[in-house]
Amino acid sequence: MTLRCDRAPAWAQLQSSFDTAGRQFDLRHAFVDDAGRFARFSQEAPHVFADLSKNLIDARTEALLFTLARECGLEAHRDAMFAGAHINNTEDRAVLHTLLRAPADAATGRQTAHELREVHATLDAMLAYAEKVRSDHTITDVVNIGIGGSDLGPQMAVLALAEFVAPGKRFHFVSNVDGHELAGVLKGLAPEHTLFLVASKTFTTAETMTNALSAKRWYEQSGGTDIAGHFAALTTNVEAAKQFGIDTTFGFWDWVGGRYSLWSAIGLPIALAIGADGFRRLLAGAHAMDEHFRTAPLEQNLPVRLGLLDVWYRNFHRFTSRSIAPYHSALKRVPAYLQQLEMESNGKQVDASGAPLAFGTSPVLWGEPGTNGQHAYFQMLHQGTDVIPLEFMAVRDASHDLDGHHPRLLANALAQAQALMVGKLDEGGHKNFPGNRPSTFFVFEKLTPEALGAFLAMYEHRVFTSGALWGINSFDQWGVELGKVLARDIEPRLASGDVSELDASTAGLLKRLSA
Ligand code: F6P
Repeated sequence: MTLRCDRAPAWAQLQSSFDTAGRQFDLRHAFVDDAGRFARFSQEAPHVFADLSKNLIDARTEALLFTLARECGLEAHRDAMFAGAHINNTEDRAVLHTLLRAPADAATGRQTAHELREVHATLDAMLAYAEKVRSDHTITDVVNIGIGGSDLGPQMAVLALAEFVAPGKRFHFVSNVDGHELAGVLKGLAPEHTLFLVASKTFTTAETMTNALSAKRWYEQSGGTDIAGHFAALTTNVEAAKQFGIDTTFGFWDWVGGRYSLWSAIGLPIALAIGADGFRRLLAGAHAMDEHFRTAPLEQNLPVRLGLLDVWYRNFHRFTSRSIAPYHSALKRVPAYLQQLEMESNGKQVDASGAPLAFGTSPVLWGEPGTNGQHAYFQMLHQGTDVIPLEFMAVRDASHDLDGHHPRLLANALAQAQALMVGKLDEGGHKNFPGNRPSTFFVFEKLTPEALGAFLAMYEHRVFTSGALWGINSFDQWGVELGKVLARDIEPRLASGDVSELDASTAGLLKRLSA
């Protein structure tokens, strides 16, 4: 980045605009004052329509945010990512997940041409394998063993695209080192009918290695003799997979971050579920959004507008969290997926050069499907003391034919967004709804692979945008390391009871938990 956001001239202008008007901004007045507000703040993007008009922002503020983005060099940083520059500076890596969804004949530039060829060679091999397994009716159960980015994306997408999943195969996802999870899945399986996918970018993650080893042991102890036919590895560390005893491997590259990897070999469960064509449609939707992000002017660029709104909310309104409400039960793992995407990317306290930041970064992201959330925590969204921007996801066409459900579902989504904004002040006290609570509303015509791909890519680029303005490296995750190291020290102590040099609380708890 050329300039960190808090050093750019527009930052101070935004602050003074917030102090003089932004803080008192009222959505209800904004709609009265501007008949064109819905058109101005809604945005058509590939496969996704977004209504941003119920957000605490006006045209002047948004213009300042675009200026801020330009002053910070957002476009140059975006172009550097697409060109393969090592923008993941702390790991000295390129960030090229967009290449995973570029067509084979895309003009991605000389620097990435070799990588694009490798991407397509692996994709073709992986999809051919997926089709082979799909037509193999002896395989009835697919167990994906992986965690974080090697679990959340495939799990979320297989569920989201359930309508496109061919019958005849069940999909299981085992991530936790908690043996209850794997044991529960294994209980219902027969080795000759099961395919295990060991998904790990590094092939060193403790949870995944523990589960993979136990799965292999179970397979052999249950009479399985064909590891090659019943285990496949999805990894950048093909050597380690081979040493583990898995010969069927699909590789990817260090320039694919774990939380950006569902488009790579890590997406094999998705391809098994929805087929090669379905997987290519998912990639095509994401690619269409990549092109939108790469080429649309900032003013009509949906991921950019969202990312800038995130900066406005986090750094000027100082909102600390954002909630997401998918009004479609198949999207129920989307919040968990987005949590890793946003919080692991932008949950940083130093900029890319390691200098401390004097402003907030990633908000807490959380949510549950609508209408369930309405009967749980929406009370707080309507009447709590904190303002929490809410994001609705709604799909116009249902994938079922049960009478009356879908209009009722959509009416609830619309009504909640309306209620948050308009409020109700006439009854007083406990029955007062302050209103003026912001929300964004995403609309999909149908929950297709293209729509899902486009939405997820949009989110990736939105996270890129806020991270870029904050001047952070959104592509490393050093914050996960300390706990891993300490767990390695603690584990043997559970057996030995040794509490030497531990703090008193950890020592006390360890004694309680020791057998
Ligand atoms: O510990 C965090 C993390 O490194 C994530 O970034 C990653 O998605 C996950 O662990 C799993 O890593 P791997 O795919 O290497 O097993």
